[in-house]
Amino acid sequence: MARRKKIYEGKAKTLFEGPEPGTLVQYFKDDATAFNAVKHEIIDGKGVINNRISEYFMVGLGQIGIPTHFIKRLNMREQLIKAVEIVPLEIIVRNFAAGTLSKRLNIKEGTALPRPIVEFSLKDDTLGDPLVPEEYIIAFNWASQQDLDDIVALALRVNDFISGVMYGAGIKVIDFKIEVGRIFDNDFQRLVVADEISPDSCRLWDLDTGRKLDKDVFRENLGNLRDAYTEVADRLGIMPKLSVGSTKPTLVK
Ligand code: C5P
Repeated sequence: MARRKKIYEGKAKTLFEGPEPGTLVQYFKDDATAFNAVKHEIIDGKGVINNRISEYFMVGLGQIGIPTHFIKRLNMREQLIKAVEIVPLEIIVRNFAAGTLSKRLNIKEGTALPRPIVEFSLKDDTLGDPLVPEEYIIAFNWASQQDLDDIVALALRVNDFISGVMYGAGIKVIDFKIEVGRIFDNDFQRLVVADEISPDSCRLWDLDTGRKLDKDVFRENLGNLRDAYTEVADRLGIMPKLSVGSTKPTLVK
């Protein structure tokens, strides 16, 4: 099955060499991991759903003028992307308290924050992706002050877009993570949204009931993860029901 050269294998995605220089193929796996991969399961069909949801948001961001690495979806599990130099940070935007913020500061999950909070973790699994202040980022040259200003502006625009689109689907965006990459055009550097935007990387709650529709379903053993992700896709009108089922093959274009 060695169709092409593997460039990088992450927990939920694999990157392969693309068909042209400057491109890569991003393959969405079914692996679900949590707590730095201490908890790991294969969720049949998850990669298919995340490929579609991420395509939906990346295309939408492009259409409102926010640059991304996305070129096009190739098939059920793969998309063609621009090769970027990933900034080694996880950029987290929070609208409501949850997760590590709730734990760290003892704030009840779901509490509205006075303003969106943008925070940075260092992308380093061996260290458990520690939260890092801007001082560290600049001192250790992971990004410049100008990069950080641009990244915060980008992250807040992404937040407004995702939150607005999800609101239309009756879903509240509690928080999410993005990654940002550099694309070089001679001396000019452009920062673009990279990686993925999916229920693996966002906290998504039903607007009325607060029911969780994201990876917390897996982290906290709240039920069937694929059903939750399928519900997000359905509400966004992205994919027809049954298209990710394992019982009956259905052609997904
Ligand atoms: O765990 P924490 O509360 O810091 O996560 C904030 C948001 O970032 C959540 O939506 C979570 O899914 C996402 N995240 C991620 N990948 C990580 C860490 C956090 O997608 N490595």
